[in-house]
Amino acid sequence: MIVNTHQAEAWNGYEGTHWASHPDRYNAVNDAFNPFLLEAVRPGDRVLDIGCGTGRTTRLAALTASSAEGVDLSEPMLATARDLAKDLVNVTFTRGDAQVCPFPDSAFDLAISRFGIMFFGDPVAAFANIGRALTPGGRLAFLSMRGYGDLAHPVAALGFPPPPPGAGPLALGEPETVGRVLTEAGFTEVTTRPVDAPQNWGADAADAAAFLAAWGPIRHAAGDGAAERLLPALRAFETPGGVLLNGEALLVCARRP
Ligand SMILES: C[S@@+](CC[C@H](N)C(=O)[O-])C[C@H]1O[C@@H](n2cnc3c(N)ncnc32)[C@H](O)[C@@H]1O
Repeated sequence: MIVNTHQAEAWNGYEGTHWASHPDRYNAVNDAFNPFLLEAVRPGDRVLDIGCGTGRTTRLAALTASSAEGVDLSEPMLATARDLAKDLVNVTFTRGDAQVCPFPDSAFDLAISRFGIMFFGDPVAAFANIGRALTPGGRLAFLSMRGYGDLAHPVAALGFPPPPPGAGPLALGEPETVGRVLTEAGFTEVTTRPVDAPQNWGADAADAAAFLAAWGPIRHAAGDGAAERLLPALRAFETPGGVLLNGEALLVCARRP
């Protein structure tokens, strides 16, 4: 069953297809955050990866854990995930809405997510459902965006401000909101830590501008011609290792009693 129907449409439509076709590009954007998240994984863990997308963190968790299962709304992204994990015997993927997915009770020791938990229509219900899937004493660790970081500069060049902190997909980037949501969902020992990491959007400014212009949220809001307008602001972030924009996340950990 899917209750986040708008999200399901987006992630099974243009947005999901773009991510599914460019796993390496999106991983270059988000991989520098991985060490913060993966420090939660312990040998022997049965891991559930929420909003796993093309499965990068599912595969990485499975290197340490005994098993890792990714759940996601997006069939195109899961098709890529399954292909990239076809040689890994302890990795599986399920299509479902994590808010209502009928996970077996107490089946996992750890639930993780790299930016896959920011889109729930009812976050309390979603985290209660995820908590039910955790064994008593089980752990939750996720990364949410707490701001747009350096991405705010090229986005400002498009003439619209990024959404304010604490709203929309940034809501779970606010420690107070996270604490309230997770407590209401039945979690304890909630901790939050701001973490920053360089996000590589492209080999040079032109490459990054073209990729960002094709990224769903910018394509949707800015339409044609966005790449030309993004280019000047991106030149300031060119390095020999690519166009590096500082990203701002919140690392959240909690425990199911
Ligand atoms: C920003 S992407 C992150 C993907 C992946 N975790 C990564 O780091 O590459 C967000 C992901 O969350 C998934 N998602 C959004 N809402 C979801 C829900 N209610 N249940 C399961 N997956 C969801 C989307 O389909 C998408 O794959």
